[in-house]
Amino acid sequence: MNVLILLAHPNLPESRINATLRDAVRELSGVHVHDLYSAYPDGFIDVAREQELLLAHDVIVMQFPMYWYSTPPLLKAWQDAVLTHGWAYGSKGVALAGKSLLIAVSIGGDQAGYGREHGQFTLTELLRPLEATACFCSMKFLGHVAHGAEDTDLHERLPDMAQSYRALMQRLAAGDLPPVVDSR
Ligand SMILES: Cc1cc2nc3c(=O)[nH]c(=O)nc-3n(C[C@H](O)[C@H](O)[C@H](O)COP(=O)(O)O)c2cc1C
Repeated sequence: MNVLILLAHPNLPESRINATLRDAVRELSGVHVHDLYSAYPDGFIDVAREQELLLAHDVIVMQFPMYWYSTPPLLKAWQDAVLTHGWAYGSKGVALAGKSLLIAVSIGGDQAGYGREHGQFTLTELLRPLEATACFCSMKFLGHVAHGAEDTDLHERLPDMAQSYRALMQRLAAGDLPPVVDSR
């Protein structure tokens, strides 16, 4: 399986989590990391290039920091521009049918901070628009993995995070597609 990671971080040089995860997987065979903010610093998206990339991969991973309970703006712009009628959806839009989508989101707190017990929404609920998008494009939604930035010991937790992410990407590249990685 070919895995395409769409990495969308507006300020990667200052990132701790997403930069670490990127470094952990970028040399892996069968995994291609596509840094959207570096590819499109002016925000102008090359739709044909993006569609070609999608066609060449079986598993799509959207990796991003959660910003106001959503994706960073370039990843939303990417969806608006690239997932076009007649290509990604509609009666003739079958380009993505059968491919898989996984979300790898980093968050400011830890996962325990999300959920009903905090009078809040779960990550599964907050990520529903992306799940719905996958469904609309006839993709298989694999669920999400979350990486929390909370705690003073983040620096110490980063190597474990990187190792698990690397192992997960290796599994995906090997064709081992878990139905839901993290159900929170
Ligand atoms: C503009 C902005 C909005 C944010 N909104 C959220 C949010 O809604 N929920 C959340 O958990 N964290 C939020 N955060 C925190 C980031 O998600 C967190 O710092 C990031 O995921 C850490 O990953 P990084 O080290 O790769 O930057 C926000 C951060 C910024 C700058």
